[in-house]
Amino acid sequence: MNIPYYNNKKIWITGASSGIGKALAIELSKHGAYMILTARSKDKLEETKAALHNPEKSEIILLDMADSGEIDSVTNKVLDQYGHIDILINNAGISQRSLTLNTEMKVYHKLMNINYFGVIHMSKLLLPSMVAKKSGHVITITSVNGKLGSYMKSGYASSKHALHGFFDSLRAEIDGFGVDITLITPGYIQTDISMNALTKDGTPQKSMDSNTAKGIPVEIFAKSAVKQIAKGKPEIIIAGSIESLGLYMKRFWPNMLRKLTARRKEA
Ligand SMILES: NC(=O)c1ccc[n+]([C@@H]2O[C@H](COP(=O)([O-])OP(=O)(O)OC[C@H]3O[C@@H](n4cnc5c(N)ncnc54)[C@H](OP(=O)(O)O)[C@@H]3O)[C@@H](O)[C@H]2O)c1
Repeated sequence: MNIPYYNNKKIWITGASSGIGKALAIELSKHGAYMILTARSKDKLEETKAALHNPEKSEIILLDMADSGEIDSVTNKVLDQYGHIDILINNAGISQRSLTLNTEMKVYHKLMNINYFGVIHMSKLLLPSMVAKKSGHVITITSVNGKLGSYMKSGYASSKHALHGFFDSLRAEIDGFGVDITLITPGYIQTDISMNALTKDGTPQKSMDSNTAKGIPVEIFAKSAVKQIAKGKPEIIIAGSIESLGLYMKRFWPNMLRKLTARRKEA
């Protein structure tokens, strides 16, 4: 069924070359949106474009979210060309698999640069035109780890917690300005996230975690997210039973969650 909310909307998805970003682009293209797709891998972005329902209603642009100069120049170029972006989906991100005691500081800097500073930088550049038009929607993919910490993810979890703090504050500041802020909190989703996760020295793990492999199929995630985003919800949780139980325990039985998290030595 067509969702009119997206019809002819200009939607920018970061990290559209694989996983969640790619699946969201494909799903959104069914609803008549015009897509701006960014990431670092040109070949993979072209694969995403080719998989869209209307590839002609899309543009791919290379953008490294760790490079603030590139974020400035690409975003300004897009604004000059399109005037206004209706929906920004802050999706690009990178995870971590390393114990805090072993992890080099450069890994923490990289995680914060891509997952936090890149996201708030782009959002700050696009928000003024949304506010001026009294219309827009900023969606950010955080994580269950944005609400609770877990094994070998201290840098990843802190970057995702920071996003919740930023966007909850922003939402309050721009209440009544016609711009919606949505945080999407996924649990384990079947993507390459664990393959690309940074280890203690910043090199990728290059292996699939069993929890990610058993996660929600990415197409099912995308279908559910696209339906719920159109309702303008402030927060959307799409997670399996273990991660959902973790969120419930964090709220109602935090001591028990602390004990269980200390025993659960897996990412
Ligand atoms: N899968 C899960 O279980 C899960 C759970 C919770 C949250 N999430 C979040 O979902 C988002 C998408 O992850 P995914 O699961 O789809 O993983 P993925 O398949 O590894 O995709 C990550 C995407 O981010 C892009 N990216 C990484 N570093 C970038 C950089 N420096 N500049 C620009 N783009 C960059 C990658 O593109 P290039 O490499 O081409 O640049 C890729 O398109 C992330 O924010 C992640 O934290 C995932």
